[in-house]
Amino acid sequence: MAPRPIIIDCDPGQDDAVALFLAMSSPDELDILGITTVAGNVPLALTQRNARMMCDIAGRTAIPVFAGCERPIVREAITAEYIHGNTGIDGVDVFEPETPLQEKHAVEFIVETLLTADEHSVTLVPTGPLSNIATAIEKEPAILQHVREIVVMGGAMREGGNRSPSAEFNVLADPQAADIVFSCGRPITVMGLDVTHQVLSTRERVARIRALGNAVAEATAGMLSFFHRYDTGKYGSEGAPLHDPCTIAWLLDPGLFQTRACNLSVETESELTMGHTAVDFWHVTDRPRNVHWTYAVDANGFYELLNDRLARFGR
Ligand code: RIB
Ligand code: CA
Repeated sequence: MAPRPIIIDCDPGQDDAVALFLAMSSPDELDILGITTVAGNVPLALTQRNARMMCDIAGRTAIPVFAGCERPIVREAITAEYIHGNTGIDGVDVFEPETPLQEKHAVEFIVETLLTADEHSVTLVPTGPLSNIATAIEKEPAILQHVREIVVMGGAMREGGNRSPSAEFNVLADPQAADIVFSCGRPITVMGLDVTHQVLSTRERVARIRALGNAVAEATAGMLSFFHRYDTGKYGSEGAPLHDPCTIAWLLDPGLFQTRACNLSVETESELTMGHTAVDFWHVTDRPRNVHWTYAVDANGFYELLNDRLARFGR
């Protein structure tokens, strides 16, 4: 079967970086048309540099990388250096990557790529604030008929917020953009905190990754050894939630996850609950069931998949 064409829209971020590695390890299954970057965990100048660094480390320097929105479409930007470090990818030594930054704006790339693609053919995989995706939809709504589905990391239901009591970071960072994307009408699978908090990068799991002994595994182990400290201190759990790789793992092995069709609506008015994702899991309203909300995962199977794929970089 031909590999599935995807566009990964990200804000590296250690977990975005691992999602990129997982996607780049699987060219027979995933055809990465491009990596678009957005301001999020750290400013755009760093997220685009970090994405290009990951392409270098993975030996995939031909993948086109684009810079997109440097701020949300309405609100002021928020960042998360307190989690990811000032580089955004603390845990690896930063270098100037060979992978070039494309001249074209990420939104132009998304629009042009989708308009020239077959109907319902391209999967969008956003793992940061949804500013690029929403801007592309607003700029050219016709792109939607070329979108097969959107697999997004964002939102929270039972877990509560991680950046505010009510909201997960990606949605809170640009709630108006999230509202546009979640109501766009195309199939959407959502990896929210309820599922990502089930895949914790424990010391044993990080040690198994490091033991793979290749440059990508070493970089992954280094980043996760830094990335976990905030969540470990905050939640008292061992290890950090591997948020963004859940999107790619779902594309590679959806059987690892359990989802339910339900309504997801985004709060865009109240400052108290701004960015909250109201997930109607028990269907208590007649709101349209616009997303497939992921609520369970085989965590050991997830890490088996991750190890199996990262091991490919050593062959
Ligand atoms: O809330 C977790 C999400 O916010 C992840 O995508 C992380 O990389 C940050 O972007
Ligand atoms: Ca991210």
